Amino acid sequence: MADLRTAVAYPNIALIKYWGKEDLELNLPATGSLSLTLDVFPTTTTVQASETGRDEIVFNGDRADDRTAARIGAFLDLARSHAGGGGPVQITTANAGPTGAGLASSSSGFAALAAAVSAHLGLSLRPQALSRLARRGSGSASRSIFGGLALWPTGTDETSVAQPVDDHGLELAIVIVLIDDRAKSTSSRDGMQETRRSSPYHHAWIEQSTRDLHRARDAVARGDFDALGEVAEHNALAMHASMMATRPPIIYFRPGTLEVLDHVRDLRRANISVYATIDAGPNVKVICRAAQADAVAADLRSRLPGARILVARAGPGVVVTSRDGTDVSQVRR
Ligand code: PMV
Repeated sequence: MADLRTAVAYPNIALIKYWGKEDLELNLPATGSLSLTLDVFPTTTTVQASETGRDEIVFNGDRADDRTAARIGAFLDLARSHAGGGGPVQITTANAGPTGAGLASSSSGFAALAAAVSAHLGLSLRPQALSRLARRGSGSASRSIFGGLALWPTGTDETSVAQPVDDHGLELAIVIVLIDDRAKSTSSRDGMQETRRSSPYHHAWIEQSTRDLHRARDAVARGDFDALGEVAEHNALAMHASMMATRPPIIYFRPGTLEVLDHVRDLRRANISVYATIDAGPNVKVICRAAQADAVAADLRSRLPGARILVARAGPGVVVTSRDGTDVSQVRR
């Protein structure tokens, strides 16, 4: 077992969403997804041997609540079973951004945890194996192992792992408009299950999203930003439509969400290439080209005085360091 290991991972925002599980325990998705790993709001996670004989988890500066501790504890048991053993650990993890607010904190969180714990346990996992392990913590975490664009396909436990995708010069950016950074009331996991159980549009969503992913991959391969943005916005709204038709409804939108969607449409009418995407929370992420991101953010700030707006560009894959700061990552960028 290795000494202290620290991992830093960044959240990713899906352009084509994951919303539906084929297998609950293995976290196999019903559809493939495509995302951009960001350069803001990293999670930093340190793992070392526990001195108390039990797993100890410090989350954002405090002892983890029971629910968080149970979820992380189950993941630690899985990692230890992969390693064929390993003692109790002390985990210290902190998100630089809001937690559980639809800003992808679980993607960076479980990517960092998978990387730090596996390194601590002496499992020298290749990036694909690390993506597979991270997926078990949170589906979207499979994509945050990699920087930039990442594709997470459907498949089996062995094959449903993310892979990096060349951006063909697209140089994407995401302008994040924070409507509300409080934790959401319905978790992604529960929301996905509820949608599958009671939304009449669930099957239509699965079929549509599969088509959307083909179109998005084609658009990336051609370096066609508008085709990618158009299908990404459509895909996010179709996902929310399927959730809203759930009984009882799952509505992550707030009034401010619709207001930002209006501004995005107005910007497009003014021939500015911007498209919106929204996850399991009210916040809107505006997809644009990196070269235009600062101007888009300035424009949105003038339309939404007082709103918290920040620019994110393509960020790196997960990095693991040892106690003395040496980079011991398996993932090369
Ligand atoms: O990985 P989870 O269980 O947090 O689910 C992520 C769900 C969405 O953010 C709404 C979509 C996605 O693909 O990231």
